[in-house]
Amino acid sequence: MKVVKVNSYEEMSAYIAERIACQIKEKPQSVLGLATGSTPVGAYEKLCEMYKENKVDFSCVTTFNLDEYYPINPDDKNSYRYFMEEKLFSKVNIKKENINIPSGNAPDAALECKLYDEKLEKSGGVDLQILGIGVNGHIGFNEPADTLCSGTHLTELAKETIASNSRFFKNELEVPTHAITMGIGSIMKAKSIIIAANIKDKKEAVEKVLGGNITTSCPATLLCAHRDVTLVYYG
Ligand code: F6R
Repeated sequence: MKVVKVNSYEEMSAYIAERIACQIKEKPQSVLGLATGSTPVGAYEKLCEMYKENKVDFSCVTTFNLDEYYPINPDDKNSYRYFMEEKLFSKVNIKKENINIPSGNAPDAALECKLYDEKLEKSGGVDLQILGIGVNGHIGFNEPADTLCSGTHLTELAKETIASNSRFFKNELEVPTHAITMGIGSIMKAKSIIIAANIKDKKEAVEKVLGGNITTSCPATLLCAHRDVTLVYYG
C-alpha cells in the first residue's frame, strides 16, 4: 500500500482530484467508483473548478457510486443521489446515462443489487475507486462482521455509522437503518483504489489499515491485499 501523508484537508482534496483528472486524461472512457460523505467533498469541488478551467472532461466517463440509503427517495436531500448531483454531477459534463447509483426506491432491493452488479460487470469494471473510511473501519457500507459480502447487497447500518451520519439529519432516529452497498468483492476488483481519511476522526481504523493485518472486524484492512491502493490522510 502506498501511503501519502498530507498536511490538510485541502491538500488531500487536491491529491484526490489530481489523481481523478490524470485517470480521465489517460483514459477518457474511465469508469470511476465514487463515494459520498464529508471526505470527498473537497475533491469534487476541485474537480468542478478544473472542469470550468477546461482541465478535465467528463463526457466519456462512467461513474458507479458505492452506496445509497434504502429506502430513500432519490429526491430526498439526504439521498446520495441528491448529494452527488449537488456536489459534482450537475456541475460537470458527465452524461446522465453514464451515472450509476443504487436506487433508494427500487421496489425489489435484491433485484436492484443484482442489476447493479451486472451493470458494473458490463462496464468493464472500475478503473479508479475513491473510498472514505467509517469510524468503525467500514468501506462503502460493508460494516464489521464475521463474514463480508462480495457483491452488491442490502445491509443494516452499524450503530456507530448511524450515530456518525446523524450529523446530516435532524437526529439519529431519522437516519435510515439500511443501505444498498457495493460489496467487498466489487470494491477489490477496482484496478486502482484511493482511500482517504482524517486520521483524527478515524485513528483506530486507519492504524489498523497501516498495521497490515486483515480482519473482517475492520473491513478497510482487506485493502491490504490489493495491489494498487493509496491511503491518503491528514491530521
Ligand atoms: C459513503 C461511504 C462511506 C463513507 C464513510 C466515511 O459513500 O461509502 O463508507 O466513505 O462513512 O464518511 P465521511 O467521509 O463522511 O467521514
